[in-house]
Amino acid sequence: MSKIIAPSILSADFGNLANDIKLAEQGGAGWIHCDIMDGHFVPEISYGSLIVKAAKDATGLTVDTHLMVENPDVCIESYVKAGSDYVTVHQEVCKHLHRTISHIKDLGAKAGVSINPATPVWALYEILEYVDMVLVMSVNPGFGGQKFIPSAVAKIKELNDLRTKLGYNFLIEVDGGIKKDTISVCAGAGCDVFVAGSAIFKTEDIAKTTREFVEIVNK
Ligand code: DX5
Ligand code: ZN
Repeated sequence: MSKIIAPSILSADFGNLANDIKLAEQGGAGWIHCDIMDGHFVPEISYGSLIVKAAKDATGLTVDTHLMVENPDVCIESYVKAGSDYVTVHQEVCKHLHRTISHIKDLGAKAGVSINPATPVWALYEILEYVDMVLVMSVNPGFGGQKFIPSAVAKIKELNDLRTKLGYNFLIEVDGGIKKDTISVCAGAGCDVFVAGSAIFKTEDIAKTTREFVEIVNK
């Protein structure tokens, strides 16, 4: 499977959202990443399901929704209805993670689980068998434009080794501080999906930058 670039619209121009998404699509983006922040799990409030629906309506690409929220169980259904193909929740907030992952799948979406920089991979050991994706945060969630935390690379490698050893087929995604240099080291460690916000949408030529990222990870 070729590796996937998932531009995060957190750094897009919301006055021209559909156009920015189309440019990323022209550049070869495979997914569109939507960052939902509730002002509790993370300090900022970003946007909700209406914007996820707007992103879905703008593209035929897979919509990848990352819930940075304290209580995901109450809003998962609305994000699936808005068109999310993947819904990812944080391990740190789920008291009944297996139930939450099952809930996402019962609604017909793919289920992801994410870990913050301070959460070890072993915290996911009992859930790996049930998830479609593991999202390794390479910044502390909450803002675009932060610096990549290098310990994410060892976690990607550990997850890649575990899925081979245990015969699982979850995808590995990385999110935060992804630029031309950090993306290649993550690809080398076994990552499949690469979220990039500012490095794509804050550039002059969104399509060209996306294309460069696609080429780096697939070479
Ligand atoms: C961070 C979000 C990211 C964010 C990445 O909390 O989960 O998806 O948009 O932004 P960059 O690529 O600018 O670090
Ligand atoms: Zn994200």
